[in-house]
Amino acid sequence: MAAPKNEAAWLTQANSPLQVSEAPMPTAGAGEIVVKNSAVAINPLDCHMQDLGVFVQQWPAVFGCDVAGEVFEVGPDVDRFKKGDRVLGHTINLVTGRPQDGAYTHYTVVPANKAAILPDNISFTDGVVVPFALEAAVCALSLKVPGEAMPGVATPALGLPYPSLQELAPSAGNTLVVYGGSSSVGCMTTQIAAASGITVIAVTGERNMELSKRCGANQVFDRTDPELIDKVVDAVTATGGKFVGIFDAISTPDTYTNDLAIIAKLGGGHLACTHPPPAEAPSNVKAGMIFAVDDVAAPVWKDYVTPALQNGKLRCLPPAKIVGKGLESIDEALKMCKAGVSAMKLVVEL
Ligand SMILES: NC(=O)c1ccc[n+]([C@@H]2O[C@H](COP(=O)([O-])OP(=O)(O)OC[C@H]3O[C@@H](n4cnc5c(N)ncnc54)[C@H](OP(=O)(O)O)[C@@H]3O)[C@@H](O)[C@H]2O)c1
Repeated sequence: MAAPKNEAAWLTQANSPLQVSEAPMPTAGAGEIVVKNSAVAINPLDCHMQDLGVFVQQWPAVFGCDVAGEVFEVGPDVDRFKKGDRVLGHTINLVTGRPQDGAYTHYTVVPANKAAILPDNISFTDGVVVPFALEAAVCALSLKVPGEAMPGVATPALGLPYPSLQELAPSAGNTLVVYGGSSSVGCMTTQIAAASGITVIAVTGERNMELSKRCGANQVFDRTDPELIDKVVDAVTATGGKFVGIFDAISTPDTYTNDLAIIAKLGGGHLACTHPPPAEAPSNVKAGMIFAVDDVAAPVWKDYVTPALQNGKLRCLPPAKIVGKGLESIDEALKMCKAGVSAMKLVVEL
């Protein structure tokens, strides 16, 4: 049989279309698997990488963070996977800069501790919405000690428990506000927090309030409600639990204004952001920016993802919207992502 050939969607310079052409066939090193990708997903990060060349460490570049497909090769010390397994995985080109660690190619290197078996009843195009958002959620919730997201910008350290496969009885424990609950990372953070026994109060667009409830939010408020701040504060207070803080998936000046008003009324708390936090935060606000590549997520990948997908506790939300088939469709999907999406993850089949 002829050796398989690889191709990738390359970025040769900032602000230019991706170019599909030959790519070296990757091999799995220690702690790695090579996945033959059947589906990849698009993240806002990819749009910034394409437009501005930010985070590109090596030109030409292959980026993208989410893959689902079959294991093609297993690294020497990896025992959780075998060739042919159906998997989903989080690829880490963002950290390594290596083209073989980007998703937008047929064969990608994935760290084995950022991958999990995808149950047979879940399609690759559904499963691929999970990986990057899952890691972002765990980084937002479970880091115990602050690290560095960017030079001079600390990560949040909420120190919350990992999600559990058990049905946790509702308790007056921790309460978290998820601002932007219909976004990809908002849906996943709501799911993971709810599965950790945390009461989630979410903020979404009106038409996506039901989706946020399906993710496990206890109460959801319309982001355009003029009384949003007071309603969120009242809902948090009514839980009777400890207010942990806010995970702000959107992290814009407008959402920061609301975040700080909510936290002020609740007497202080964490503000976990997806972008650099507000410069002027009062001393009772512990603000930080998540960095969604961290080994804190390894136990969740290893012990939680597959059984939780199997028993329906972890759902592939927001739903996938399949933009097209083939590496050539990734450019179109990136354009759609730049135009903005609502409660969906853009996916390309390979
Ligand atoms: N630092 C990191 O490590 C890290 C990791 C992952 C993502 N991120 C960043 O996190 C952000 C979210 O990423 P994503 O993939 O989750 O985004 P996404 O799914 O593309 O976000 C789209 C959603 O944003 C919601 N939204 C927009 N403006 C809003 C507002 N003012 N209030 C509430 N919701 C609002 C929309 O809600 P409605 O349609 O319901 O109105 C929509 O569903 C991006 O900026 C991304 O770059 C950072």
